[in-house]
Amino acid sequence: MNSYNIAVLAGDGIGPEVMEQALRVLDAAEKKFGFTTVRTACWVGGAGIDHCGRALPAETLVACEAAQAILFGSVGGPKWDTLPPAERPERGALLPLRKHFELYANLRPGICLPELTAASPLKASIVGQGFDILCVRELTGGMYFGEPKFYGEREGEVVALDTLVYKRREVERIAHVAFRAAAARSGRLCSVDKANVLSSSVMWREVFTEIAAQYPQVQLSHLYVDNAAMQLVRNPAQFDVLVTENTFGDILTDEMAVICGSMGMLPSASLGARSSEGFFGLYEPSGGSAPDIAGQGIANPIAQILSMAMMLRYSCAQPAAAEAVEAAVRRAIAAGYRTADLATGAPGEIRVGTAGMGDAVLAAL
Ligand code: IPM
Ligand code: MG
Repeated sequence: MNSYNIAVLAGDGIGPEVMEQALRVLDAAEKKFGFTTVRTACWVGGAGIDHCGRALPAETLVACEAAQAILFGSVGGPKWDTLPPAERPERGALLPLRKHFELYANLRPGICLPELTAASPLKASIVGQGFDILCVRELTGGMYFGEPKFYGEREGEVVALDTLVYKRREVERIAHVAFRAAAARSGRLCSVDKANVLSSSVMWREVFTEIAAQYPQVQLSHLYVDNAAMQLVRNPAQFDVLVTENTFGDILTDEMAVICGSMGMLPSASLGARSSEGFFGLYEPSGGSAPDIAGQGIANPIAQILSMAMMLRYSCAQPAAAEAVEAAVRRAIAAGYRTADLATGAPGEIRVGTAGMGDAVLAAL
């Protein structure tokens, strides 16, 4: 029997309540597909600060090291916003986890289901029958981690400095992830850079152009990031797979998320090294901890459930279970179940809370 070791880091805000639903769906998937998981629950983020004195407690890191995958909820909230920036839950937990495990490949699907097009802020004429984009974001390089970083006084002036740096091999490895992803989909890959201004982007574009020769089945195109941001709201359906560096990816994936209708629908996978079992990965919803609605039982658990499905696919070698969970989510949506973030008041909608959406997905599974 296949058994997988998972670190469960529910975190703050809506994290624990949406995680509860994802774990219920995981229980059902295990029964249906004949595998088991050993789950270790750990504190992280604000909860880590409150219980252990830091956003990423040492014992949490130890549990993650012993695991094949990290199922992550969300971190942060107003309670910890007055801490120095580097100690806050977001920078104190998420960024060190990404760096520690070299989770360099961040896959963010942006799917606007045909049933949910009315929830998108885009005009009906633009959103059409919905769209399905995958953004591959480089996650451990660029300005987030580049050295030097500095904020202080220099020669009598206050100066702040970040460094956008990429090594060629960092670009090469994310390029291979993106080309493989595109080859497995429609074969269209759009690389996003700022090669008209940035040296790092000039190298990025050269590397992608060179590696394209190894993937004749993939059609590579390039866009400058400002144009890409515009094209996303003008005609999102033109894109299949987008690939870009860390900071551009951060910005474009939020844009992608909002045009899909709700952040509450979008999962993500951050992948590192590959073993025979699959990738080591961290799986988290694209939306944040949503402190404004935490604890009310109204948050949409679908992003967390779909993140769990991505974990089954990439870290647990259970692709059939992953597909079944994804299909169950689509069936629950097609049946009309809507949490508050998805509701438009259209006839046929069945308003549910967090647990109710969990029930609907379980029933569909
Ligand atoms: C994301 C988030 C993080 C990032 C923050 C919380 C550090 O915005 O995952 O997109 O900037 O990468
Ligand atoms: Mg972001």
